[in-house]
Amino acid sequence: MSNTAIITGGGSGLGQSTALRLADEGVNIVVVDVSEKGGNDTVEKVKEKGVDAIFIKADVSKAEEVKNYVDKTLEHFGSIDYFFNNAGISGSGKYFLDTDIKEIEQIVGINLLGALYGLRYVAEVMVKNGGGSIVNTASSAGVIGQDTVVTYAATKHGIVGMTKSLVAEYAKDGLRVNAIAPGPTETPMVKNYFEANPEMKKNAEAGIPQKRLGTPEEVAETVAFLLTSKAQYINGETIRIDGGFTNTK
Ligand SMILES: NC(=O)c1ccc[n+]([C@@H]2O[C@H](COP(=O)([O-])OP(=O)(O)OC[C@H]3O[C@@H](n4cnc5c(N)ncnc54)[C@H](O)[C@@H]3O)[C@@H](O)[C@H]2O)c1
Repeated sequence: MSNTAIITGGGSGLGQSTALRLADEGVNIVVVDVSEKGGNDTVEKVKEKGVDAIFIKADVSKAEEVKNYVDKTLEHFGSIDYFFNNAGISGSGKYFLDTDIKEIEQIVGINLLGALYGLRYVAEVMVKNGGGSIVNTASSAGVIGQDTVVTYAATKHGIVGMTKSLVAEYAKDGLRVNAIAPGPTETPMVKNYFEANPEMKKNAEAGIPQKRLGTPEEVAETVAFLLTSKAQYINGETIRIDGGFTNTK
């Protein structure tokens, strides 16, 4: 029987690339996203690869919508083998003292609470069924300090913490939980931004030892490795995918 993966934020960027990469392994995909257009687009592309896929609309910052995507997945596929807990937003890039409370609440609600709600409901199913594998999306901002990302960094350091601590409680029940910490990666949004601001792109690349941004496919490759049985004895780890950026800070 095929494995099933839930991917939050699966309608774009890293989530969509990972959906396509896992489909290559024969994994059925549940695309969770707040965007219907993006979610349906991924489902269509994934189905072209010959696996089954469904879209479930959900705002991950709302616990009842998270519970609903877990229930619907079980109704349709009967199990959850892999979970890419990935949906997130970046924020306005203002200095912290210029940031309004609404923005702080929004970033924490989606990036931190959304990830915790996902773990709460998905891990419950996995532990009950004898195990499963989870990858949470952190960021370079989850492993080093940087300016203009205080709230985002708080949520992404939180991702690293929840990853390690969940392992302490449930590895004995067959759960593997890892995180990824991508540096700036050329998702459509980042690509468009840098196309409009070529100087910013030059500056970003100059600060990276490999002198280029990452690609969504490189991130997807690492997520697929961590989720599947190839990484059987890796647990609680945060893998940096950043061309050497954070290790040389
Ligand atoms: N692209 C990068 O350079 C980069 C680097 C490090 C970390 N990340 C992290 O990777 C993850 C994915 O980012 P991306 O670059 O693919 O961005 P993206 O904007 O291309 O994709 C994010 C997806 O999440 C969805 N989403 C946003 N809010 C949501 C919500 N409340 N509920 C459900 N879905 C929601 C969006 O609709 C979108 O489809 C994020 O957690 C981000 O913080 C990205």
